[in-house]
Amino acid sequence: MQIVASAPAKAILFGEHAVVYGKPAIAMALNKRAYVKVWENVENKIYVDINDLDIKGYLDFENNMILSDSPKKGILRYVLSSIKKVHDGSGLNMYIEVDIPIGGGLGSSAAVTVATIAAVSKYNKIDLSMEEIAKFAHEVELEVQKSASPLDTTVSTYGGLIYLEKDAKDIIQLEIDYNIPVIIGYTDTRGNTGKLVAGVRKRRDKYPEIIDPVINSIERLTEEAKEVILSNDKEKIIELMNINHGLLDALGVNTKELSNMVYTARNAGTCGSKITGAGGGGSIIVYCLEGTEKIIGALKKADHVLRADISKEGVKISILD
Ligand code: MEV
Repeated sequence: MQIVASAPAKAILFGEHAVVYGKPAIAMALNKRAYVKVWENVENKIYVDINDLDIKGYLDFENNMILSDSPKKGILRYVLSSIKKVHDGSGLNMYIEVDIPIGGGLGSSAAVTVATIAAVSKYNKIDLSMEEIAKFAHEVELEVQKSASPLDTTVSTYGGLIYLEKDAKDIIQLEIDYNIPVIIGYTDTRGNTGKLVAGVRKRRDKYPEIIDPVINSIERLTEEAKEVILSNDKEKIIELMNINHGLLDALGVNTKELSNMVYTARNAGTCGSKITGAGGGGSIIVYCLEGTEKIIGALKKADHVLRADISKEGVKISILD
């Protein structure tokens, strides 16, 4: 029996980093996905091949070790931790495709984690609810990254446009009858989410009276953004995105390359532009009102560009035979 599961990438529109402190956030699932195929390994080993990243290796289930020479094998930590939630250690082949820039702030690790949990649980005839998949996936991110909010794994599990309430008390699907046309610009410089989250915490510990108001400001801005999105007030979406970018800069997660892309986009057309995700490299998100093609052209000259639509579909599982 072969099982394939897939899960989408995500882009955060509002509230990254503040969400780690229980503040609300808004994020959308993107039409870019990670795919995980699993089937039996008769030699009783756990073998993983992530073809498009040139990562191959074995997972030592008992000793919690990754046996691979691939320089970018870090993502296998998420895979090992994921299968430990729903597998007994018997032989397994895994073939993974990631149609998402890795370390680009687009939730590639969350998508691989969600899809792995979904595929391996189904292979083991364990029927997990969406809630259970999201819960296990968040636990995996916490184990691997040490500090993580449930935002990335929630969006990758459920799909759509999501408002994660304060203290992650509830997940609200924002049902809008229009598409949010966004462009993602991404750099070759990769951000390490765990380190960036730790950096913000350090800054907050050092200057609590300065950084706490920044985090509270992001909270207020995100609450306002929810209303503004629901009423499709494009001008305000733009303004709030630009303010959010400034606040992320104050938290210390901006870089010269990201800044360059953010202002390149704003100079080329009418848009809101901000870092999306952890920062420190990675991606920006641009909400275009006018001059979309010009903005894409300008960003292409500066770095890489991805057109992105909301994916309504979250995690998906199919049985091949
Ligand atoms: C990373 O995609 C988003 C952060 O807010 C971290 C997290 O929510 O765990 C930076």
